[in-house]
Amino acid sequence: MSSQSNKDKSFVSKLGNFLFGEGDEKRIDENLTKDALPLMPETPVMPTPDTSSASLEKNDYYFWLCTRARKKEDIPEKLEHIDGESICGAIEQRVREDQFKLLDIPANINRALELIKKDNFDYDEIEKEIIHSPYLTGEFIKLANSALFRGVAPVASLKQALPRLGEKQVSCLLYLGATRMYTDSMKAFEQITEDIVSHSHAVGVIASYLAKKYDADEDDAFLAGLLHDMGKLAILCDICEHTDIFRIHPGITSEEVLDDVLLPMHEYIGGIIAHHWNLEQQFIYAIGYHHDLDFDSDKAEEYRLPAIVNFSDAVARMLGKGRWIEDIDLFSLKSAEILGISNTAEHVEFLNKIPELFDDESQG
Ligand SMILES: [Fe+2]
Ligand SMILES: [Fe+2]
Repeated sequence: MSSQSNKDKSFVSKLGNFLFGEGDEKRIDENLTKDALPLMPETPVMPTPDTSSASLEKNDYYFWLCTRARKKEDIPEKLEHIDGESICGAIEQRVREDQFKLLDIPANINRALELIKKDNFDYDEIEKEIIHSPYLTGEFIKLANSALFRGVAPVASLKQALPRLGEKQVSCLLYLGATRMYTDSMKAFEQITEDIVSHSHAVGVIASYLAKKYDADEDDAFLAGLLHDMGKLAILCDICEHTDIFRIHPGITSEEVLDDVLLPMHEYIGGIIAHHWNLEQQFIYAIGYHHDLDFDSDKAEEYRLPAIVNFSDAVARMLGKGRWIEDIDLFSLKSAEILGISNTAEHVEFLNKIPELFDDESQG
């Protein structure tokens, strides 16, 4: 884990170079250490839940015991002959030479995003731009009927779903749609795409919920969560185009077999795409630094969004929504420290409601 982390940092540092130039990359404000971030109040610690098998069912309530997470033994082995380092090197080189295909926003989604920015926009106009995409239509209706937005009656059409979601949520889903539609034709890794998109969706929902309590904008958190792993999709497209991996192994259905490439590269590539899409700096940080939270900013608030994404990513995986996660202490994460989340009754009670956000899924 630590060598992975070091590797990640070197790419993260390169992301800084790419985005801000060599000179600006280490704009470390020595005062902006964790001491400058909000201090956690001294509060009593909750008793550690009993993890013995006899009490496991009862303690399933504490989702951070990972009883719902994917099991390590179910994760397929990495493909042995894949030289992750040289593939990463080749990807970096294509980025440097401007040959790496960044995800472009499809024209209809771009038009819909432009419409939303206008005052007095008309949802009918937006509907016209996306009605022909079954994927987008399905996503909008699904979110409008989810626990986050559920109204009195379920919605059955795009026309009903769009106003219920509101302009910010619609634009968030349009961005997610842009990442998804780019990979639509890539049948070789369809299942992996599905998994990444569904994980990203869960992270967006959790991030939006956390933002309510931990002092961030809910819509910003939702968007950052939705897009945080989009670098993986771009890398998969690149691998598909420049290597034989998917031709030699047509049965790849799990991203873990490509860990040596996706883990060290996806924040770097995601940050570059966020920059390419002219997203605000806070999103570039949240996407480009959501694992190590190791970047330089002189604004304490710019650490909150990456921390919310980091924490939400861990929670989603503990709920079985995403890749395998090792047995970690959720409350000792750096993101928990930044956000002021501690193992106390108040926070435990708030966090324990997160699984309810996905109640509509478990009901089918
Ligand atoms: Fe990630
Ligand atoms: Fe993730």
